[in-house]
Amino acid sequence: MTTYETLQEHLTTNQHTWLITGVAGFIGSNLLETLLKLNQKVVGLDNFSTGFQYNFDEVQNLVSEEQWQQFTFIEGDIRNYDDCKQACTNVDYVLHQAALGSVPRSIEDPITTNENNISGFLNILVAAKDAKVQRFVYAASSSTYGDHPDLPKEEDKIGKPLSPYAVTKLVNELYTDVFAKTYGFKTIGLRYFNIFGQRQDPNGAYAAVVPKWFSGLIKDETVFINGDGETSRDFCFIDNAVQANLLAATAKDEKATNQVYNVAFGERTTLNELYRFIKNRVVAHNNSAKDAKPEYRDFRAGDVRHSLADISKANSLIGYIPTFSVKSGLDKAAEWYLKNLC
Ligand SMILES: NC(=O)c1ccc[n+]([C@@H]2O[C@H](COP(=O)([O-])OP(=O)(O)OC[C@H]3O[C@@H](n4cnc5c(N)ncnc54)[C@H](O)[C@@H]3O)[C@@H](O)[C@H]2O)c1
Repeated sequence: MTTYETLQEHLTTNQHTWLITGVAGFIGSNLLETLLKLNQKVVGLDNFSTGFQYNFDEVQNLVSEEQWQQFTFIEGDIRNYDDCKQACTNVDYVLHQAALGSVPRSIEDPITTNENNISGFLNILVAAKDAKVQRFVYAASSSTYGDHPDLPKEEDKIGKPLSPYAVTKLVNELYTDVFAKTYGFKTIGLRYFNIFGQRQDPNGAYAAVVPKWFSGLIKDETVFINGDGETSRDFCFIDNAVQANLLAATAKDEKATNQVYNVAFGERTTLNELYRFIKNRVVAHNNSAKDAKPEYRDFRAGDVRHSLADISKANSLIGYIPTFSVKSGLDKAAEWYLKNLC
């Protein structure tokens, strides 16, 4: 059995209390679904800035009535310390996801991104420390690699940030490092690399590429590729990211804590390849997309050209073994988008 299989078996019969911030969002609602299915108790905090009630409705339909009763939701804001304090009361593990995502959003409005991603982060970090939670796991980002040229990305070789968003995610790492040294507080940062899957929002100016392209192809709208399409990313299916969170929260080995880990699949896919993969899946259900062609436009400010993770650190220290490849993840994502957008 893998470490994750053993953990899932253990959790099913041993209940802990988890706080998920950003619980109404894409990654948060998937963490919620998995934890409830494992009979865990979950407290959720969200201000619905980019999250949705319908994500809760879907999760409620996917778990039993009894499991749903284990979920307590607090509508609140991490920029408010009292909300953070209330949310952290009697919690064993924190999975902190709440933040304003998107590099372009941060370029347009760095002040709001900073307030949510740095001030809000500090509030929840202090509240979690004061509540003496066992472990604080947080959403870090591959954007922290900034202008460092090496591929694949290894955790200890970072460059300078290329956007306000990347600055906020780097500051999160600096704060947790200082909290480990000064207060002995146990944290783990997960540097997500382009996570995709069910419930990732396809709408709005700051939608991520995978949901935006599923939506465009399904609805017969123009799909834009920024640059020449040879930009590459390490796309990672959501279930792999959920696995990394649960492993990080419960890892027993002292060496595994106060670390950051890449969370990715460990393979590079160009945007041109991604477009083809998504189109094939949409065409299999809706032949009218077969003649669709992408429109190429300028490269986007703040974007790095290539991204690929070395995932060996997460593998050796917390037992992370991604179970979904890019293609099998896209199969699952296609099922969801075709069901929900058609
Ligand atoms: N999706 C990715 O590929 C990716 C990559 C790198 C890092 N991340 C990070 O992962 C985390 C989750 O991202 P996601 O893709 O699920 O985004 P998302 O926008 O779907 O979820 C974020 C959630 O946080 C909530 N939120 C935002 N500000 C808040 C505040 N001040 N108080 C309370 N709740 C607040 C939103 O309403 C939303 O429900 C974020 O920290 C993001 O920066 C995501």
